[in-house]
Amino acid sequence: MQKKRTAILISGRGSNMSSLIKAAQAPDFPAEISLVVSNRPDAAGLTVAKAAGVRTMVLNHREFADRIAFDASLDAHLRIESIDIVCLAGFMRLLTPWLVERWRNRMINVHPSLLPSFPGLDTHGRALEAGVRFHGCTVHFVRPEMDSGPIILQSAVPVQLDDTPDSLAARVLRQEHIIYPSALNLLAAGRLTVEDERVAIEGARMSAEVMVAPRV
Ligand code: GAR
Repeated sequence: MQKKRTAILISGRGSNMSSLIKAAQAPDFPAEISLVVSNRPDAAGLTVAKAAGVRTMVLNHREFADRIAFDASLDAHLRIESIDIVCLAGFMRLLTPWLVERWRNRMINVHPSLLPSFPGLDTHGRALEAGVRFHGCTVHFVRPEMDSGPIILQSAVPVQLDDTPDSLAARVLRQEHIIYPSALNLLAAGRLTVEDERVAIEGARMSAEVMVAPRV
């Protein structure tokens, strides 16, 4: 099996990145983490990636004239490294439609809400304010509009009466760490197809298997 060369893009602590690196250490995992790129030189995740033996790269967005120049450089680096799949993991920067289209159906993102509810920032505070009974997280293919695109996996968590944004975030994050590696596994194994902007999972035996983190 030829493992898919995967790059992870981060901006901060990189806990989702860590969950992907850990999962990819399994001999039968169909992706290998070849590169971690941060747009912030001070991202804590860089240290974690290095400690795990993963090559890291900083592309400081402040050193580029504009968004297009940054994205062109990012794209060039990904191509030089023969990257097959890009995982956004807390990468807090909007990408240009040009870059997103170049990586169409090969770039995925994790977002801390049940999309299409609560795109953007402060998802946990907004979920509490809206009074929803269930919140959660989504892994989806990336499309030009922020936090949108065909949904691969979601996991729902119940909202407790005494939840704060922080307690809810912690419960959701644990689920992110489960569904993101599962989604990368499915993509790298070639089990995902996108039709009419909906994702089909080859070999998923029942709908329950795609609603909660499936064992793949
Ligand atoms: C995660 O909760 C991720 O879902 C979120 O940022 C956090 C990054 O944490 N991403 C977004 O909000 C994207 N719109 P991490 O650096 O520990 O993985």
